[in-house]
Amino acid sequence: MIKRIALMTALMAALVAPPVVAQPAKARATANVDLDARFKEAQTSPQLADDLYKVGRKVAAVCANCHGEGGTSTKPSIPNLAGQNPAYLLEQMRQFADGRRRNEFMEGMIRAMNSDEKIGMVLFYAAQQVAHQTPANPMLAAKGQEYFEKTCFRCHGTGGRGNEQIARIAGQQPDYLRLTLQRYRAGTGVRANSIMTPNTKLMSDADIEAVVAYVSSMP
Ligand code: HEC
Ligand code: HEC
Repeated sequence: MIKRIALMTALMAALVAPPVVAQPAKARATANVDLDARFKEAQTSPQLADDLYKVGRKVAAVCANCHGEGGTSTKPSIPNLAGQNPAYLLEQMRQFADGRRRNEFMEGMIRAMNSDEKIGMVLFYAAQQVAHQTPANPMLAAKGQEYFEKTCFRCHGTGGRGNEQIARIAGQQPDYLRLTLQRYRAGTGVRANSIMTPNTKLMSDADIEAVVAYVSSMP
């Protein structure tokens, strides 16, 4: 209970004044308290899963400011969390916490969460539905589908839903998708990944536009 209030206070403070200075590396070390073990425990105990889900639902009220009610974002630059795969989400939180993935606001927010809040949030969002978006440009989306069905489907699945480890990308927000693909392609420290960088290296800007049009409209 005390921790919950502390988090809410930290989150509210962060919302009012987003941190402009990166936190020292030392603060990062505590962020990852055996997340996997606790997650496994939740997977084998329906009671614990239920308790953590409720914790996650409360945390999500803060996240809703940006990620939308139930995790379907209303801002094209902010990712949906709804329907996202649990192990993928946990891995991204780990990357924010240890600075492998850079976004000052999210790094601070994730470091303020304890393990139960992180797992609760993952359980909550995984169970939410993503609202379907119709393609703004069906011709472009059809081109994107061709590209998707040549490469991306191998890991993200023909429906774009990914799997336990790999991100769901179906229905993801278009500006966020574009920026993310550009970052992987550039291979900079903001967001680099040894699997996605080679898979985006050969994409032209036009390929990215087409794939974004298709993927963001996948149900
Ligand atoms: C002020 C707006 C804001 C708030 C509030 C916020 N986020 Fe985020 N979040 C973002 C943005 C922007 C990104 C994309 C970061 C990037 O890739 O540069 C993001 C990314 C994420 C991601 C990675 C998603 C993916 O598909 O890889 C997770 C997980 C996440 N946020 C969880 C949370 C949680 C949990 C909360 C609430 C405790 C929260 N966020 C609150 C803005 C916000
Ligand atoms: C060989 C497997 C593989 C292929 C092929 C692949 N991906 Fe990925 N993708 C991944 C993995 C693994 C991640 C998680 C990387 C990380 O942690 O940042 C990922 C992450 C992503 C993300 C970030 C999701 C989020 O919520 O932030 C997007 C967007 C994405 N892939 C799109 C694509 C597109 C578009 C293609 C085809 C051009 C593609 N991927 C091909 C494995 C793959």
